[in-house]
Amino acid sequence: MADQPYYLTTPIYYVNDKPHIGHAYTTLACDVLARFHRLDGDDVHFLTGTDEHGQKVEKSAQAAGVDPQAFTDQVSQNFRRLAEDMNYSNDDFIRTTEPRHIEATQALWRKIRDNGHIYLGHYEGWYAVRDEAFYAESELTKDDNGNKVAPSGAEVEWVKEPSYFFDLSKWQQPLLDYYDANPDFIGPDTRRNEVVSFVAGGLDDLSVSRTSFKWGIPVPDDPEHIMYVWLDALNNYQTAVGYPDTESSLYSKYWPADLHMVGKDILRFHAVYWPAFLMAADLAPPKRVYAHGWLLNRGEKMSKSLGNVVTAGDLVDRYGLDPVRYYLLREVPFGQDGYISHETMVGRINSDLANDLGNLAQRVLSMIVKNCDAKVPQPQALTADDTTIIAAATDVLAAVRGEFERQAFHRGLEAIWKIVGDANRYVDAQAPWELRKTDPERMATVLFVLADVIRRLAILVQPIMPDAASAMLDQLAIAEDDRTFAALGADPAVVPGAELPKPSPVFPRYVDDETAA
Ligand code: ME8
Ligand code: MG
Repeated sequence: MADQPYYLTTPIYYVNDKPHIGHAYTTLACDVLARFHRLDGDDVHFLTGTDEHGQKVEKSAQAAGVDPQAFTDQVSQNFRRLAEDMNYSNDDFIRTTEPRHIEATQALWRKIRDNGHIYLGHYEGWYAVRDEAFYAESELTKDDNGNKVAPSGAEVEWVKEPSYFFDLSKWQQPLLDYYDANPDFIGPDTRRNEVVSFVAGGLDDLSVSRTSFKWGIPVPDDPEHIMYVWLDALNNYQTAVGYPDTESSLYSKYWPADLHMVGKDILRFHAVYWPAFLMAADLAPPKRVYAHGWLLNRGEKMSKSLGNVVTAGDLVDRYGLDPVRYYLLREVPFGQDGYISHETMVGRINSDLANDLGNLAQRVLSMIVKNCDAKVPQPQALTADDTTIIAAATDVLAAVRGEFERQAFHRGLEAIWKIVGDANRYVDAQAPWELRKTDPERMATVLFVLADVIRRLAILVQPIMPDAASAMLDQLAIAEDDRTFAALGADPAVVPGAELPKPSPVFPRYVDDETAA
């Protein structure tokens, strides 16, 4: 359906860390979905941003010797720059220190409080600043030095202070009912099962305010307290569409969000706390939360202390932006943990991109320029082979849409590359270079069919590789308006007689410096 609203969000990242490939990965997946839905005619709102309050950020600011506001003003720029460098098409960039967010979050607090779900008490227990999370004694283990650590490996400290509580324990059954009634709420399924069994095991009330430090949103009517940073952070998704004005055009159009994309480390906050907060405020929970896996470098989760952090910039400088975008979503089955490496990157670039898609386009376009006066040739009647390959390149859209709807990007790409393979086999079987001598009219038809198949492939890969796809479509003289998924099925859409520019390879091979020497 055209103009269907589609609201998707990335996590908002802690500004204390420099952005690395893990952050880039999550936002990339969202960018691909945002672009896909726009090409499908949907009315997309794509949000990313930075999480700027809390003890962790306050400590980083202290370590840097600046006040937290100046610190966050500066370091949140790193994430804005990442969005530019990676060609993300986000519609908004939210910072939790913005007035719109402070207002929205105080409004949410009042609503939950006035509904009777917040009470004043006293918190005494373990807290991990790195995770900004409370832990029960039973969840802790000891590290090599005998210190107590959280399941994530983060150090914990004993916290004892007055605190407001959210009555999370009361939401166990409503949550279980919600999961039951909305089987697609949590993906992938394995993660859904983990969340369901966690909630089924019982929930404790949640401490939602702190008094021992200051860097946060003041609790309404009790400014000695600041709000727990996760309550603050999660509400960014509502702030960005106009909460507390639930009548506003943005909010009524986009809430509840269609998808919160997150890493598996923060699923519990999104799939347990967040829907409970929303229900307690009489608001609708999001439609879906998808938790993807870890990108691992040298078999380890990247971390500053391990010194194995890879940035998006490192990869883009070396391999180019669109190849990196393709590789990250093709190589690792989305949802699972996976390794990135130079070898597999070069393999993908040289086989999938340079050989398969790049070479297909380059040899077809060169033949057209050489043998057809640089104009899209006029076809004769199409054969069964011709219509089969054209139909396959059209019908694959439905398969890709189905995979992307389940966030199975690798499978969607696999489906597209199956058509790339079919097209290369079609070229070899039809052998237009031989037809040139024996049957020039048939050669013209074959090249026409191929140009139209390449057009469809280029339209399909736009969400993944926007620049490369647009270069391919330019080389086929396809008008801007004819690049949507609605135009994909148009027949015929490469225009016989249209003049084509001199082609240049869109996907160069990657040659290692060492190999070249
Ligand atoms: O948790 N592989 O922010 P954060 C894949 N502010 N993804 C990775 C990754 C890796 N190695 N490392 C990080 C927070 N990520 C909160 C979120 S939302 C209301 C608040 C990605 O800066 C992944 O998406 O620690 C993970 O969930 C997120 O970065 C954590 O970012
Ligand atoms: Mg983190």
